[in-house]
Amino acid sequence: MFRLCLLAAGAAAISTDAIVDDAETLRSALSHLKLDVRASELARLKEAPNLVKLLATARDDPHTLAAQLAASPLAAIAREVAPPTNTRDVTGALPIVTAHGMGDSCFNAGMKSVTAAAGKRVGAYAVCVPTADTTVGDTIDGFLKNMDRSVDAFAERVRKDPKLKNGFNALGLSQGNNVIRGYIAKYNDPPVRTFLSICGCNAGVAAWPQCSPAGKLIGPVCRALAEVLGDLAYLKVVQDILFQANYYRDPLRLKDDAYLSNSRLAHWNGESHANATWRANFLRTEKFVWVEGTRDTVVFPRDGEHWAAPDPADPWKGVQPMKQTAWYTSDAFGLRTADDQGKHAFESFAGQHIDFTDEELFGWLDKYFT
Ligand SMILES: *[C@@H]1O[C@H](CO)[C@@H](O)[C@H](O)[C@H]1NC(C)=O
Repeated sequence: MFRLCLLAAGAAAISTDAIVDDAETLRSALSHLKLDVRASELARLKEAPNLVKLLATARDDPHTLAAQLAASPLAAIAREVAPPTNTRDVTGALPIVTAHGMGDSCFNAGMKSVTAAAGKRVGAYAVCVPTADTTVGDTIDGFLKNMDRSVDAFAERVRKDPKLKNGFNALGLSQGNNVIRGYIAKYNDPPVRTFLSICGCNAGVAAWPQCSPAGKLIGPVCRALAEVLGDLAYLKVVQDILFQANYYRDPLRLKDDAYLSNSRLAHWNGESHANATWRANFLRTEKFVWVEGTRDTVVFPRDGEHWAAPDPADPWKGVQPMKQTAWYTSDAFGLRTADDQGKHAFESFAGQHIDFTDEELFGWLDKYFT
């Protein structure tokens, strides 16, 4: 397994003028995102011309950026699920909230069908909660609205929906699970009762192998990630911008100051310090269902979907099972206590990333949401 960050980014050398231009573009693109950026960090972004270009595209031509995200090899777009024939009509079933993956949006046919089918199967109100009002905005947010800001936007919408006020069950696909997990840690009011995490990257990803299957980077999004998810990954500015940088967990940098101080995932998983509030919120959820695709090549290592971590002794080959990981033994965010309380369930399906069958989905819904 090679790491994307070891590859040459393939970015053409840029002239001094272009750097100045890019810095200006960047400054205005960042002001558009409403971020405060230190000058020294802004300068470092000169090393990331492809990211700067995508930031400019977000500002000037968001439709194009949304299309690039949806077409990128990183995209995890739900396919359409057929409405279940076998349904329940129960009053009082808990509502369901769904959250989508990278490149996808609540307004796409796949997420609409997953959400409608889940609600129909269980006999409950079901809603996909976006972080923006349009397909384009919601798609771009899965890239340029970092995990914390996405969680805040998600929480605001959840709290505005009166049907959710007594709590709900949550179903996430791919990185949508980071949004739900962040909501659980930081808000959980109204509470998530059962969290069904399908192919989630809450344990992080150590590499993006699908970006360069034959050693060649595919498309503008992968080129941008390749240059950013190396030395720059744990700069504050990069963590403030990029959702994928937030869950990129380089197994060789886990002791670095930059990782421990700035990585959102390190904070959430208690690798730098434990947060008692987040831990207490996590433990208010009654059931966690962690679903792994046994042929998933998008989340690396895929065992992370079950909270395993790359083995520090041999990060590219071996994994530590959940119970051996530091985030479990330290219990920094409640993973071990939740286990002691019998809250974890582990499921798997023989398929690629989020490529479960309708029957598998309905099986999990019947088992955990009714
Ligand atoms: C802990 O969580 C609280 C509540 O979300 C937050 O305000 C605070 O910044 C967090 N502290 C740290 C050190 O992460």
